[in-house]
Amino acid sequence: MSARRFLFLLASTRENGNTEVMARHAAAYLPVGVEQQWLRLIDHPLPDFTDVRHEGAGVYPEPEGHARTLMDATLAATDVVIASPLYWYSISTPAKRYMDHWSGWMRVPGVGFKDRMRSKTFWGVTAVSHEDFSRAEPLIGTLRLSAEYFGARFGGVLLGYGNRPGDALDDAPGLERARTFFAGEPAIATTRLASPKRTQVIHA
Ligand SMILES: Cc1cc2nc3c(=O)[nH]c(=O)nc-3n(C[C@H](O)[C@H](O)[C@H](O)COP(=O)(O)O)c2cc1C
Repeated sequence: MSARRFLFLLASTRENGNTEVMARHAAAYLPVGVEQQWLRLIDHPLPDFTDVRHEGAGVYPEPEGHARTLMDATLAATDVVIASPLYWYSISTPAKRYMDHWSGWMRVPGVGFKDRMRSKTFWGVTAVSHEDFSRAEPLIGTLRLSAEYFGARFGGVLLGYGNRPGDALDDAPGLERARTFFAGEPAIATTRLASPKRTQVIHA
């Protein structure tokens, strides 16, 4: 794993929450030589994404400011970890806004964003306050299908229990899962769809 560079995107709207506890716990077990970069999305706020894909040439300008920071960090990483709490069964707004901007970065001339995303591994970390973790399926599906869109690898989602800050520290099974979470050898993301005809075209 020595050539790996993990980007941790903290996507909660509060600091030191349960998702962050889980992500930091899992990261502590990465081998020493693996680089880690941590960015808190609320410290790097992005504007709402605007869809101009079908106007004029359909290109986006070089991103500036926080968008530049996030795009460059994404491209520099071998592994992108989206650490988002479960908000209404899915990813948080900061996580979603960041991912929406991928659709613009894919259309910045000369960047090759889409091709470069293919070589990465995507991971998720989430804190769930419901005892039934299957409630996180929309979040898991969003991350897995997005990795699949790029033809990238998907390492899965680390699930932990937590409602109030600090709860994750008492979630022994979650912390145990965190210990080995990044040790896997993720495969290219694939989905076997029951009805492939309805899902052939994706215009991300
Ligand atoms: C806007 C919002 C929506 C939430 N939606 C869900 C939900 O759908 N399912 C759930 O189990 N918990 C839900 N929660 C609870 C959070 O997932 C839980 O408090 C979690 O620990 C927050 O993560 P954090 O500590 O990393 O910020 C929600 C919390 C907020 C603030």
